[in-house]
Parts: sequence; structure tokens; C-alpha cells
Amino acid sequence: MTSLAVLHASQVVTLSGPKRPRVGTELSALGILHNGGMLIRDGKIERVGLSDEIEKNVGDEEIVDAGGRVVMPGFVDAHTHLVFAGNRLDDFERRARGETYEQIAKAGGGIWSTVQKTRAASELDLLTQAKKHANWFLSCGTTTVEAKSGYGLTVEDELKLLRVMRQLKKEVRLEIVPTFLGAHAVPRELSPDEYSDVVITEMLPRVTAEKLAEFCDVFCERGYFNIDQSRKILSAAKKVGLSLRGHVDQLTNSGGAKLMAEMGATTADHLEQTDEQGIAALKKANVQPVLLPGSVYALGSSRYPRAREMIEAGLAIVLATDFNPGSSPTPSMPMVLSLACTQMKMSPAEAITASTVNAAYSLNRGDKIGCLEPGKLANFVIFDCENYGELAYWFGIPQTHAVYVKGECVSKS
Ligand code: NIG
Ligand code: FE
Repeated sequence: MTSLAVLHASQVVTLSGPKRPRVGTELSALGILHNGGMLIRDGKIERVGLSDEIEKNVGDEEIVDAGGRVVMPGFVDAHTHLVFAGNRLDDFERRARGETYEQIAKAGGGIWSTVQKTRAASELDLLTQAKKHANWFLSCGTTTVEAKSGYGLTVEDELKLLRVMRQLKKEVRLEIVPTFLGAHAVPRELSPDEYSDVVITEMLPRVTAEKLAEFCDVFCERGYFNIDQSRKILSAAKKVGLSLRGHVDQLTNSGGAKLMAEMGATTADHLEQTDEQGIAALKKANVQPVLLPGSVYALGSSRYPRAREMIEAGLAIVLATDFNPGSSPTPSMPMVLSLACTQMKMSPAEAITASTVNAAYSLNRGDKIGCLEPGKLANFVIFDCENYGELAYWFGIPQTHAVYVKGECVSKS
């Protein structure tokens, strides 16, 4: 494995701090080293410090001159739907004509239309498309993604998606954390209760026997899975050892945040409609909110989740793309940072903490990634700017200069 000395960074954004997700004012503490550098051995960070000091310790390492740019941890995108077939350009054009997400779904678009295309696709076709998506993520500076199934909705098709992720992991340098989302929508051929039974009695045992997922997720929403069905599915998943995430309170405030608190979930995602009681329940149960402003933006809504209230309540918030063909067709964490600052009134520093170290903890990987500290994996990005705040400020232009996974350069502009 490669050994490197990274020198002359205008800022090394270390995110060094307590060994847990950051809350309150800690979200603004980025642990910046000006004119900094790093020593990397065998894919891990050995030393972080001032560039001059690092230079004194250089042996036969390859020198990477950051040239006055920003160095920070690779983004950790804790909510994506990475594997699917085709796109949803039809939905996009319908939304531009004024139809809503729910109306389009009822009229034959929505998740169901991607399910039909995904069922018809071979594993190889899905893998080819997923590789393209994986390279998009890397080129935007993301080095780890959580990836959900959920466009199969039969036992074999859900397993097919999870197997594609397993294969993808071997073929790309992006780290992938798999989540089973069999309960993403109810297939046309079954009732919600019948399909919930299939998820519990047929899918979950196969997913766990083949060790295909670390988390289980459910779309708890009117027209998808109600609170009772979601509770049953999540309880069964917990029993077989999966950690829990959930799509909750996205379109309606249905008590989804409270359910995730009751279940002891790791995260509650979306939360656009969550009120003070939902926020208090998440705090009490120590659930991390995963906020997805890209989906609010792409659906043409202005109802962003209440990030400031969540921060004030002491929640360890996470930001993610929700990359998917319907509600959030973007792999770009810099775009999400821009939305977080302009629409949710987070500061650039808070947004960076939410999309690196806090996201890493939400994937049970806070001990390995998300910060630039000795012992952590050398997953980092050199951005072509002098100040980390520029990542959220300039929008619509890529600022990625080079991306490294375990000390190896995997994408260069
Ligand atoms: O997170 N809300 C449910 N799932 C996705 C949308 C998936 C789709 O529309 O294909 C989301 O927004
Ligand atoms: Fe999602």
C-alpha cells in the first residue's frame, strides 16, 4: 500500500475532537490546521501537523503538494439509493408542469416505474450503471456511501440489488455500506399487509443468511407503509441483528420520528414534516437525524427540515444526498452543503461536520473514517479552494482537485 506526505495545504480540516458524533457548538469546531500536512503509511494516517514539521519527517514517501488548497476528509454520504435502472426524466418533466410526487406516483410514475425497469435489468446492466454512479460520487469528493436496495420488491429482485452492491464493492474504490430497504413501496401484486409479511418472513432471513446488509430501512408514509407495518418490519429486522434507519415524516407528519425513537433506530431520515415533539423524541432516544435537502429542492418544495431547531435540541445531525432517480438525482455533497447553508441556515462548518464525522458515526464507522487523525483511514480530498467555506459558497461548479481512498488517488481533475 502507498505511503504519502501531503504538504502545503492552506487548511487541513481535521475534524479531530471527541470520539462520538458532534452536537451543539461542537458542530462548528473543525480542528483546522493552517499550512498543514499529513503523513500516510499503508493506507492510514500516521501524522497530521504543520507542513514544515511533516516535511522534516519525510523518508521515501511520495510527495503530494496540495499547493495551498483545502484538504479534508472524504464526504460520507449516509443515505443513497445507488443501484437502479434507467432514470425518471418523465417524472421530472411532469413536476415541471406542476404535478406533485404523490400525483405522479398514482399516475404510474414514481418508485414503481423504477421498480419495473430494475426488475427487467440483468445484474450486469445494474452493475454497469452503478459503477457510473460510484464514479460520480468519487468525483464529487465522496469516499463512503450508504446504499439501499428497494427497487426490486420481490425476494429475488431485492437480493439481486444487494448482490450487485456486494460485487460493486469489489470493483470500485468507493466504500459501500449496504442497507436492506425491501419496504420501499408496496408492489402492485400484493396488499401492504401481505407484502410486509413477505419482507419479514421471506426477505429478511435470506438477507441475513447471506450477510447482504448492515441496516434495515422502511418508507413509513401514507400510501407506503403505515406506523404498524413499519414497526413490525423494523422489530423483525432488529431481532435478526440489523441496525435501523427509516424514511419518516417526509410528506406527512405521521409520527415516524417517534417510531424511530421507540425502535432505538440509528437514524431517522428526511423529517421535513417533523415537529417539536418528534425532535424531542429523537433527542431522548439518541437517534441521529439524516437531513436530505437535495430531495426537497428537486421536488420543488420549500419545506426544508428544521435543522436549527434540531441543532438547538442537541441532535447530532447528518446531511446526505438521498441520491435516487426520482426525488434527488444528485450525487453531489457540495450541492447539499450549499442547500444546507442557504435553505436551512446551517453554517458551512456545521454542514461539513454533518457530512463527514457525524455521517461516519451514523454508519457505525466513526472509529475508522470521517476525521483526519492518526489511525484513521487515509480517505481524503484536496479541494481547489483556500477556505473550506468556499465548498458551500460556490455552487454548480466542481471544486474537487484530487480524491484519495486508503492513500491511493482514485479521482483527479
Ligand atoms: O428518499 N421517499 C422514498 N424514497 C426516496 C425516493 C425514491 C424514488 O422516488 O425513487 C426518497 O426520497
Ligand atoms: Fe431515500
